[in-house]
Amino acid sequence: MRQGLTALDASLYLFIAMNVYALPRHPETVPQPATVRRRVDLVLVGARGQVGSAFRQRLAGQQHALRLALGVDLALLATLDQRGFAFDLQGLVPDRCHVDLRAREPGDLEHLLAHLVRPGAAPALFIDCSASDEITDLYPRLLAGGVGVVAANKRANARPLAFYRELQRLAHHHETPYRYETTAGAAIPLLEPLRDLRQRGERVRSIRGVLSGSLSYILARVQDDGLEFSEAVAEAGRLGYTEPDPSEDLCLRDVSRKLLGLAREAGFALEAQDLTIVPLQDDGNWQARVTKAKQRGERWVVLADADERGGRIGPQCLPGASPFANLRPGQNLVQVTTDLQDSVPLSLSGPGAGPAVTAAGVFSDVLAAARQLVRR
Ligand SMILES: NC(=O)c1ccc[n+]([C@@H]2O[C@H](COP(=O)([O-])OP(=O)(O)OC[C@H]3O[C@@H](n4cnc5c(N)ncnc54)[C@H](OP(=O)(O)O)[C@@H]3O)[C@@H](O)[C@H]2O)c1
Repeated sequence: MRQGLTALDASLYLFIAMNVYALPRHPETVPQPATVRRRVDLVLVGARGQVGSAFRQRLAGQQHALRLALGVDLALLATLDQRGFAFDLQGLVPDRCHVDLRAREPGDLEHLLAHLVRPGAAPALFIDCSASDEITDLYPRLLAGGVGVVAANKRANARPLAFYRELQRLAHHHETPYRYETTAGAAIPLLEPLRDLRQRGERVRSIRGVLSGSLSYILARVQDDGLEFSEAVAEAGRLGYTEPDPSEDLCLRDVSRKLLGLAREAGFALEAQDLTIVPLQDDGNWQARVTKAKQRGERWVVLADADERGGRIGPQCLPGASPFANLRPGQNLVQVTTDLQDSVPLSLSGPGAGPAVTAAGVFSDVLAAARQLVRR
């Protein structure tokens, strides 16, 4: 066996021996004074990515305060990316552990999962800040094993509807948190309000929005500051607004995942093929388009719509008075019409991209999920 795995196995064994009885699976069954600390193990995927790094910084800043205020120890048990892996039963130092990652070995992830879902394990949260389908394949096993999942990765909820529903079912059945608020609108609360509407019996009729912070930024720079389209794309990439692969943004694949996730949360049983997508072209004609639009008092935006019949996403030229035509660079706006809120739709708006705000949203999900785990 490789050396890394042997070391991991040995430390897991020691940890189980030391802690399996010290960390009850159902802590509420043991009377505890308010000051007793409960530990929640965190596993972070995307350790050195933009969102993952911002999340580690935030965790480093908040760990101590949360220990004092809530009596919860958020311990970074493991962190990984495609290339590296770090694991420490005592908890990694969040803002320094990127230098501790060793080369990732094929069995690392499997050993880690086995550790997380073993009987008697400490409450744990798996935080997915990757953009990988391979990582979303793990969610069913994690949720079924009682491990909470917090995702910035939009891919799971944009897979076939049956997969989306199975994740919801597993989370519900195993009373395990599954949170993914940042998968649409970064740190703007969009999904929770949609769930609230449905739970109080208010039927959502339609969703309309500027959902891409990166595209909103790119089009604002082209229209307001005269940048060439390609220059604006490069700048958005440098600021961390675009996806790891910017073509995901321009082909509207990334925004279509957001729309599908939002639509499903609103109760529309849609599949990816129910969305009509008109991609954004870097065809050298943007300056001419913008000039014509300005002459008519209009503005280009990438607008997304969905209702129970399907969805549409693409560039549209809107009158200057439209609220969607008056957004700041990177801003998102979503309007939701319901059977109660029809003539005046519910409007939700804020910054729709950026590693720091996204990591802050992930952190909120982690806190809510950790609270749910320690109450079990
Ligand atoms: N940036 C934003 O404003 C924003 C907003 C909302 C949501 N998100 C979502 O947040 C996620 C991360 O975005 P980002 O901007 O931080 O991307 P990023 O900088 O490219 O980071 C992606 C991270 O995921 C890791 N990764 C990829 N595939 C993996 C795998 N199979 N196993 C383990 N690790 C893997 C990468 O590792 P390597 O470096 O080794 O490849 C990297 O650390 C994406 O899903 C994105 O859609 C981002």
